[in-house]
Amino acid sequence: MRQHDDLYSYEPAKGHGLPHDPLNSMVGPRPIGWISSRGRDGSVNLAPYSFFNLFNYRPPIVGFCSTSAKDSLRNAQETGVFVWNLATRDLAEQMNATSAPVPYGTNEFEAAGLTQRLAVHIDVPRVAESPVHFECRVTDIHRLRRHDGTDVDSWLVMGEAVAIHIARHLIVDGVFDTFGAGIILRGGGPSAYAAITPETRFDMNRPGAPR
Ligand SMILES: Cc1cc2nc3c(=O)[nH]c(=O)nc-3n(C[C@H](O)[C@H](O)[C@H](O)COP(=O)(O)O)c2cc1C
Repeated sequence: MRQHDDLYSYEPAKGHGLPHDPLNSMVGPRPIGWISSRGRDGSVNLAPYSFFNLFNYRPPIVGFCSTSAKDSLRNAQETGVFVWNLATRDLAEQMNATSAPVPYGTNEFEAAGLTQRLAVHIDVPRVAESPVHFECRVTDIHRLRRHDGTDVDSWLVMGEAVAIHIARHLIVDGVFDTFGAGIILRGGGPSAYAAITPETRFDMNRPGAPR
């Protein structure tokens, strides 16, 4: 198998030296944390976060990272809850619209023409057009820091999914249809995305895992 000897190397603290930062093109495509939340004043918020992932099975824990103090972080701090909504290909434009920099208190559901459906266990609206919702209670808000211990203006918000809702048609023979759900992922650069389709699937079993 080919090995790579001609390497472009850089130390991120000194800059990457390329026209576009390769960082999030390489760690990618990334799932999109489409996060709805509510502030202490009752205002509703919706925004996408691709520094997002699932970190644990039981209990299910998801997290997103706010790379400055943004409204979703503020709301998570204020009310301790948020909803993760699955972003799909048919909702891509609306998802993108909800990333617009707007003043605190602006309801991005309304700005993007999306329908609010109140969650069952927490007082946060879900995106009714999205086929999957995780109702989350905040477990940790962790400020990121450099290796020398100095603070960074980024916060990782972790939440336990206390309730999960799945559009029933996406449960096929008892299995969630990842490749039929139209899931979209964020690539790098200013505009790249990937859509998960059945052709992109391949299967592999873990060594020693039961078949
Ligand atoms: C696909 C996508 C992914 C994004 N990922 C992040 C992210 O991981 N962290 C972040 O701070 N901003 C991210 N942004 C930008 C935020 O969505 C944007 O700053 C938004 O206005 C934040 O909204 P809020 O202040 O209402 O929470 C992303 C934008 C898009 C379109």
